[in-house]
Amino acid sequence: MCGIMGYLGPKDAVEVVLGGLECLEYRGYDSAGIALAEGRKIGISKCVGSVANLKAQLEKNPLSGKLGIGHTRWATHGGVTRENAHPHVDADGKVVLIHNGIIENFHELGEEFSKKGARFASETDTEIVAFLISSLYEDDPLLAIREACARLRGSFAFVILFANISDRYYCVRKGPPLVLGTAEGEAFCASDVTALLPYTRNILFMEDDEIAELSAEGVALYGFDGTPKETRTQTVDWDASMTSKGMYPHFMLKEIEEQGSILRRTLTGRVGGAGEEGIDLGKEFPFSEEDARKFRRIHLVACGTSCHAAAVAGRLADKFADMDVRVEAASEYRYGNVICDAHTLAIFVSQSGETADTLAAARQARARGARCLAVTNAVNSSLAREVGSVLELRAGPEIGVAATKTFIGQLAALTLLVLWLGKRKGNLDREKELRLTEELARLPLKLEKILGQGESLRKMAERHKDAFGFLFIGRGASHAIGMEGALKLKEISYVHAEAHAAGEMKHGPIAILDVRLPVVAVVPKDDLYEKTLSNIQEARARSAPIIAIASEGDEDIRRFSDDCFFIPRTENELTPFLTVVPLQLFAYHLASLLGKEIDRPRNLAKSVTVE
Ligand code: F6R
Repeated sequence: MCGIMGYLGPKDAVEVVLGGLECLEYRGYDSAGIALAEGRKIGISKCVGSVANLKAQLEKNPLSGKLGIGHTRWATHGGVTRENAHPHVDADGKVVLIHNGIIENFHELGEEFSKKGARFASETDTEIVAFLISSLYEDDPLLAIREACARLRGSFAFVILFANISDRYYCVRKGPPLVLGTAEGEAFCASDVTALLPYTRNILFMEDDEIAELSAEGVALYGFDGTPKETRTQTVDWDASMTSKGMYPHFMLKEIEEQGSILRRTLTGRVGGAGEEGIDLGKEFPFSEEDARKFRRIHLVACGTSCHAAAVAGRLADKFADMDVRVEAASEYRYGNVICDAHTLAIFVSQSGETADTLAAARQARARGARCLAVTNAVNSSLAREVGSVLELRAGPEIGVAATKTFIGQLAALTLLVLWLGKRKGNLDREKELRLTEELARLPLKLEKILGQGESLRKMAERHKDAFGFLFIGRGASHAIGMEGALKLKEISYVHAEAHAAGEMKHGPIAILDVRLPVVAVVPKDDLYEKTLSNIQEARARSAPIIAIASEGDEDIRRFSDDCFFIPRTENELTPFLTVVPLQLFAYHLASLLGKEIDRPRNLAKSVTVE
């Protein structure tokens, strides 16, 4: 949460920092602020709301400089006010700082400083850190930062300016992500590599307990104990075009429409089709055939949309992996008394690889001896480093706050993983493996066929835009897809939506049904089709309009529903790849018709780095 951007170099720092903040707004948009070093003075501008507000403010009262830092906030401590917006500054104006994370002992430190007469301008947990560093600063900025870090509890990424230093600035990481970028005579920092791509692909991913000094000469890296560290710059293969909307009105729509090609990319080289290998997860995959045979338990742990992908994979694992399967939200798993050992395969799914609860859950499973794997889009993320082994999604940067293309990448990676295990466990014969892998290779085209019918989903959304709320139902993996459909809808349209296993509807949720509450039934033609059909009829008997996501050729469903969308036929186990897409588009169009801010839904942030 919170976006951070910093720049030093020959360009106009205001322009670079604001451009970066716009790119990072998906991390928070409660307030925005910027600080510019102008000679021995630091100019600050901040405001409530988006970066656009900050831009407008700077047009009226301009700032300039070659060294600047900026912040876009997702509020945790202290309300959404100008005073609480970053950057924060100490009483003497010596230290200016922006922060992502939480300082747990801010209250204690605040009292200590208050007793000495300090007066704070904000209610944040950040401002005290500027006071603390300032109180420790004589002439060695690194020493002051190190001493301050030793007194802080919690998680933090800081970018720090000193008023009497205009040719260097400092970054600190303990927890939340911070990446540095370099180019000839330029030094950048940001919360996410996407903000740096327009300027450089030479990137250094900071690790925990590191301090960086950034200057026109480049980056000098130190441990919290002051030991110099080697700078590990690498060239990333993402490029700036991946982070632009192009001709699309919203990133979310662009990313939904990219899903056919994402699926191809995730499968490339991993599915041999009719070849000898079948599924080949490559050399980076850390488990041997023998490991696979020894696994007794499989834990799939994640948050939000990633947890829905985990739930789909859990159903597949029930069928093929012959293991005790546990799928759980990371925020629950981490506090449970979870039994893991060397025969437990614990899989942590996270597009960002920075979700605090997923990280904590992975730490716990590792400490208890589980064999761990991260399934993530960010191979340099904290999760990837914590776990050590990564199955990469290859989805490219996802900017829309509502996850879509990474969900398809997760489904693909997890499906391959479960089928690979199933084969080693002797539960997937050669014929079935080939049927599934050949169909996987055909899925991108089928998915693109659905994308070509966006207009019919827009019209469907138009017919239901005044609904009071929506109830999503499905069985098995289609229940997980119902949960994902409901999540997408409420995230971006703010319309109430809930999802239940279809068989659970009559145990309570049925009470809320009436003519104003459509039931969205995910009902592909699979083993559970007839059971779900009965539930649809129960809902219909209570006057609820029925929207069915069904399989092509299912003429019966027309009789029982008011609105149908047909997905191409596929193998029963693979229907989630197709049923989720119309639900993403339905949510997108409904939100658009209701005039919502699709790429920046209220109260949400793309990467949830607080617990
Ligand atoms: C929903 C959404 C969130 C994330 C969740 C986990 O559209 O984006 O529910 O799925 O915050 O994030 P990651 O996958 O980064 O761990």
